[in-house]
Amino acid sequence: MMHRPRRWRLNASLRSLVHETTVSPANLIAPIFVTDASNEPQSIASMPGIWRWPVDQVADEVHVLAETGIGAILIFGIPGAKDADGTGSYDADGVVQRALRAIKTATPQMTVITDVCLCEYTDHGHCGLINGISGASDPHLPAEYVLNDPTLDTLARIAVSHAEAGADVVAPSGMLDGMVAAIRGALDRSGFGAVSILSYSAKYASSFYGPFRDAAQGAPAFGDRATHQMDPANVREAMREHALDVAEGADGLMVKPALAYLDVIRATRDRFPDVPLAAYNVSGEYAMVKAAAAMGWLNERRAVLEILTSIKRAGADLIITYHARDAAAWLTEETQCLN
Ligand code: PBG
Repeated sequence: MMHRPRRWRLNASLRSLVHETTVSPANLIAPIFVTDASNEPQSIASMPGIWRWPVDQVADEVHVLAETGIGAILIFGIPGAKDADGTGSYDADGVVQRALRAIKTATPQMTVITDVCLCEYTDHGHCGLINGISGASDPHLPAEYVLNDPTLDTLARIAVSHAEAGADVVAPSGMLDGMVAAIRGALDRSGFGAVSILSYSAKYASSFYGPFRDAAQGAPAFGDRATHQMDPANVREAMREHALDVAEGADGLMVKPALAYLDVIRATRDRFPDVPLAAYNVSGEYAMVKAAAAMGWLNERRAVLEILTSIKRAGADLIITYHARDAAAWLTEETQCLN
């Protein structure tokens, strides 16, 4: 008797019967950039199809996204002014806080996640307070080092200000030690026990963030992020980061980037089977597909759906992706075709 795997591949109906991995629009999270620096939507050269939205137009864009059935949006703010300590990040009238109020008024059913970090708000572009630059300093640490504990208070203030403005979930992305515990404590003390924390628990120091730093205007003015983000060579260390964040009260974990880290997603899923897991299909991954598609070298739709399927197959529940809007439309079409 000969085994014939091809029997199940004979036609579309048989193939769909043994289809193992399904991505649905509800699994997708769309990042959104909101800006205080312009009154017009601004395109981003390295991320075709993605815009920086002025606060007074962002609610309309979110309304359109809500119609596609995607699961949530993730907001990043680009403030009009920056300073050494990133004080604009927790301003009740800051760019993210005003955007949150507008979105929650217009589309209250949409789940809104906010990025909690300092890099878009500091004039040096780093994710925390810097040794020797602001009031905080530590003679035992190198100059220009991102200080850990002095930054935690600021992160907690940002998270509370986002919760006050209507955030459902806060997502700290700076890879500082103890950030989840600091944020959980502050949210609970302020009466926001129902606000979840989706931690960027295993975020690598990656070259694939290039286009994002363009989009958010948050590239470091000196040095890099290697003293807080993870070494791409490490996977055991990611398990340690996840475990700490779970112990500190994280409601969800993340691996970022996604494509060069599918093994990390799989290891995380196996080690933490019962914690929701997000993967961030980052800006550089998006830009590669868009560039190749524009050259006619890839079929964009098929490449995107294959990529999203592979991230889900590796073990992610949720995928943060700049393809969310197009992918949601394509996925809905495919479901209708099969039925
Ligand atoms: C900020 C932040 C970054 C991204 C998300 N949050 C950039 C960075 O760490 O330099 C990258 C997202 C992307 O590339 O799509 N801490």
